[in-house]
Order: sequence, then C-alpha cells, then structure tokens
Amino acid sequence: MLGLYRLARPVLFKLEPEKAHRMTLKIMKSGLMPMPPRFKAEELEQEIWGLTFPNPVGLAAGFDKNAEVIAPALSLGFGLVEVGTVTPRPQAGNPQPRIFRDVESGSIINRMGFPNDGLTLFEENYDRFKSEDVPPPGVVGINIGMNKDQKNPVEDYTTLIKAFAKKADYLTVNISSPNTPGLRDLQEPETLRSFLADIINRLNMSSGDYPPPPLLVKLSPDLSGEQQEQIAAVLLQSGVSGIVLTNTTIARPEALPESFRAQPGGLSGPYLRKASTEMIRNFYRLTNGKLPIIGVGGVSSGKHAYEKIKAGASLVQLYTGFVYRGPDAAYQICRELLAYMRRDGITKIGNAVGLDHKKSNGGAEHAA
Ligand SMILES: Cc1cc2nc3c(=O)[nH]c(=O)nc-3n(C[C@H](O)[C@H](O)[C@H](O)COP(=O)(O)O)c2cc1C
Repeated sequence: MLGLYRLARPVLFKLEPEKAHRMTLKIMKSGLMPMPPRFKAEELEQEIWGLTFPNPVGLAAGFDKNAEVIAPALSLGFGLVEVGTVTPRPQAGNPQPRIFRDVESGSIINRMGFPNDGLTLFEENYDRFKSEDVPPPGVVGINIGMNKDQKNPVEDYTTLIKAFAKKADYLTVNISSPNTPGLRDLQEPETLRSFLADIINRLNMSSGDYPPPPLLVKLSPDLSGEQQEQIAAVLLQSGVSGIVLTNTTIARPEALPESFRAQPGGLSGPYLRKASTEMIRNFYRLTNGKLPIIGVGGVSSGKHAYEKIKAGASLVQLYTGFVYRGPDAAYQICRELLAYMRRDGITKIGNAVGLDHKKSNGGAEHAA
C-alpha cells in the first residue's frame, strides 16, 4: 500500500499545498486511499470521559473541516479524529495562498481563517457518518469556532453547542487560532471565566436527559507562564473536561528559511514540538493531572508521542506529521509507541500518562 503512496507523494508535494489537500480529501472520499492494516494492541487502549479510545494517536482539527472523511480517517488507524473547526455560517476564509510548506524541516505555516461550509452541511456529513451500520472504531470530536464577522463570540459558540450537545463524542472549543482576529482574546482569564460559564450552562441545558459530552478547550502555545497559571485556575473551576495543547504558534525560529518565516499565520510541525510538550508538562502540574490533556504539536513519531504522554498528555494528535509522513502515520506511530512502552515495562498506555512527574529525576533517564 505504501508503494502507491510513494508514487503519489512527489505529485502531491509538487502541487500548491491547498490543492494537494483538496486532492487528498477526494482520494480519501473515493475509497481509493491505500489503507494500512489497523494496528491493534490492548496496551494502547484507554477509557477517558467514558469513551473508549482504541489507541491514543489522533488526527488533529483542521484537516477535515467539514466532517467529510471521518470514516476513512479512522480507517487509517487513528484512535480519534477531531473534525472542524466548524463555524455557524459558511465562510471563505482568508485569500489564497494561505498554506505554506518548508519541506526541508517538515513545517507548515497556515493562515486559513476557518474556511468551511458551515453548520448545516457539516451536520449532514456528521449525521451520515453516525448512521453508518458499522463505523470504524475510534472517537470523533467536534471542534467549534466563531465566524470572522461575529462581534459576540458566545452567540456562535452556543449555536454550535446547541446543535451538537446530543451527538458529539466530545467538543473542543477553539479559542486559539491566530488567524481569526480577536479570537485569542477569549483566553484572557476573566473573559475566559465568564465565556466558559455561559457556554457550559448552554451545554447542560441543551443536552436534555443525556449527560453532556465532554467539553475541551484548545489553547495557544504563545501564552506566558503567568497566563498559563491563571488559565489553569479558571479551567479547574469552570467545569471543562479537558484541554487540547496546543494550536499553532506565531513564533518564528531563526533556523527557518527567511521567505518561509516571513509568512504571517500559525507555524506547526517540528519547531512547535518542544513548546507544546512543555506546555503540556506545565498544565499537567498546574491541574494536578485532573483534566485529561490532548497533546498536539510536532508529533510525527512514536518517540514524540511518548514524550508528550509522559509529560502529561492522555492522547496525542497530529496534522503536519500526517502530511509529511503519509497514510501509515498512525500505524507507525502506534507501533513505535508500543515499542517504547515495552522497553520501559509499561503494560497500559494510561500508566505512562504524566510519568515524568512521578519520577524524582523528572524521568530524564527514559528520554527516548
Ligand atoms: C493547514 C492547517 C489548518 C488547521 N486548521 C485548524 C482548525 O481549523 N482548527 C484547529 O483547532 N486547529 C487547526 N490547525 C492546528 C492543528 O490542529 C494543530 O493544533 C497544529 O497544527 C499543531 O499540530 P501539528 O504540529 O501536528 O500540525 C490547523 C493546522 C494546519 C497545519
């Protein structure tokens, strides 16, 4: 199956990145995508928020903005897939081009600005997936955001929460994209406190007799240590169920080529990895491990996944690593992760979560 991808890769990488992405979605939809065998291992299974994750390796938000390829993405072996960001009304996003690759380092800068088909079409796609007779195993999260022209964010988020309160496995509130003006202001602790109170209230009202789905908050890696401390305190009091760490960064390491680093937008891939892992470590400590964390940023191998899990992530996700590593990324990362666990005598992935914090020397001797 990889033979086919080896042929397709140079073609996809010659295309303008957004075109390549559209073509990938088309191939996935068509059923012509070469599918790796599913990597099955009991050691990688985990129960979190009452949901069963067959493995901890997920596809991050932004890849499948309109919930068009949920089943094919799960069939690639991801244990979870986060679809969206969806906004209430369709919107075009920023002018193209708006995705840029630095192939040498395996990085991406994007300034998409939430282009998507809007709630109605998203919901149709999502419902179609949910009505499949035998959907592939895995958990599907819905990542929600606000339209660019919305002056009162709570309005958009409550519209989306109302729509999904009874059908999402989990919901992620995206307040950290650098490409929607004003969005990241919602991370200001006092704003966040009242924002979360409003939307959690709506979530509880809208779920009716059902228990509400877990609500997660996705944060930016560009928050200062002080902001992180204040936000952690707000999150612990707010009733959210978990944290997604992190979105893309506006930082630009010197090592990147000048023309690439000059592009405005959010940087993802290897240069985000350390910052995101350190933020996971910090939030795990600040919340005493009470809020499960999905770690995302620069993951493209089992080593990276294991680092984030030991720092405190219960699950990981990738986007950029999937672009560069290809369709067997989830399979390979699961395989490599299991090898690290076996090396360290860990029989259940849950036992590796936050392991660095449980060792007096910070677990440095286990750094892979
Ligand atoms: C092209 C592109 C589009 C993205 N769109 C979204 C999005 O709509 N919503 C979101 O929460 N994150 C979005 N992200 C951020 C990713 O979900 C992820 O947080 C980030 O890229 C870091 O992970 P990575 O280094 O594995 O890519 C996007 C990333 C990329 C590269």
